[in-house]
Amino acid sequence: MRTLIVYTSQTGYTKMYAEKLAERLQADCFTVEELKKKDDGFFDTYDAIVYGGWAMAGKVVKSEWLLGKAPAWKDKKLAIFCVGATPVDSPLVEQAMAKVVPDELKSYVGVFYCPGGLNYDKMKLPSKMMMKAYASMLKKQKNQTEDDKKMAEMIAQSYDISDVKYLDPIVEYIEK
Ligand SMILES: Cc1cc2nc3c(=O)[nH]c(=O)nc-3n(C[C@H](O)[C@H](O)[C@H](O)COP(=O)(O)O)c2cc1C
Repeated sequence: MRTLIVYTSQTGYTKMYAEKLAERLQADCFTVEELKKKDDGFFDTYDAIVYGGWAMAGKVVKSEWLLGKAPAWKDKKLAIFCVGATPVDSPLVEQAMAKVVPDELKSYVGVFYCPGGLNYDKMKLPSKMMMKAYASMLKKQKNQTEDDKKMAEMIAQSYDISDVKYLDPIVEYIEK
């Protein structure tokens, strides 16, 4: 099985997961930017294509790259993995993952979530500002839930909740 992993990453978590996944699946691995100029023939040689993007406001950054091409790639194994700062056990993860792929593609595009973390040192300024605004919105919110409080505390500083074990279901999906 020839597998291609494509990803985009700002602070390194998605890159780490993409590279580890590529090692495990003996796959080729590129950033989405590196593949911009490739024509359709390049992708024809792959049996499986996995896209990894980081979560931004509940969406997977640049996932439209795979979603747009998916109908033409129905004969391949396709998957998207999302890397976010939300812990896996949060109900927000399931809610957001349910919306990653439109209904008509759900039967043939797998969706997976891998927790990453927050790295303020590597974050670009606009991202830092957006995170700050989000944190202060959470703090000021009336009727704050326990989850909101925990999240506000958590995102006040950098943290790392990534673990390569979260790649296991993706490996299984591709290899089955
Ligand atoms: C502007 C912005 C919005 C974000 N929105 C979400 C989100 O909705 N859900 C989430 O779990 N993480 C969110 N994050 C956190 C990133 O997805 C997380 O830090 C991820 O690990 C980054 O991956 P990377 O290191 O590959 O860039 C957001 C981060 C930024 C900067």
